[in-house]
Amino acid sequence: MTAVRFLVNGAPVEVDVPGMRRLLDVLREDLGLTGAKEGCGEGECGACTVILDGEVVDSCLVPICQVEGRIVRTVEGLARRTGDGPVLDELQQAFLEAGGAQCGICTPGMLMAARQYLDAGGGPDDVAIRTAIAGNLCRCTGYTKIVEAIAQAASVHP
Ligand code: FES
Ligand code: FES
Repeated sequence: MTAVRFLVNGAPVEVDVPGMRRLLDVLREDLGLTGAKEGCGEGECGACTVILDGEVVDSCLVPICQVEGRIVRTVEGLARRTGDGPVLDELQQAFLEAGGAQCGICTPGMLMAARQYLDAGGGPDDVAIRTAIAGNLCRCTGYTKIVEAIAQAASVHP
């Protein structure tokens, strides 16, 4: 077992688990953060996407021993807490308005890939958005509404 300390959505956490346990399993099973989904388990689908130190990663491929001292962001951290309750991140709002989520399996990963794209200064450019979410597969939407949603959010906060 290995004690691993890191930040999740701004909060310090510590887990005592086998060092090769996947970050995805630590998030979902040890920390109860079930937003990141398991699709392929092989780094192909992006359903498990989180942001690790400002980089988009497939959490199914990251052993927890590599997360010591690092900063993890998951979909649970997107909405802002206010005195009047949580307020959706502009991307979540845009997905809602544009119909960017259908079955929802890909949505947490899409949102995190899109969040990192916007945080890195990405704009409402169709090709750039499609490149940013190229590692995230969606079987439902045909991608058009997802791209529209990300472009909408990028336009609100260019
Ligand atoms: Fe991680 Fe598919 S579950 S990439
Ligand atoms: Fe179903 Fe994307 S909304 S896989």
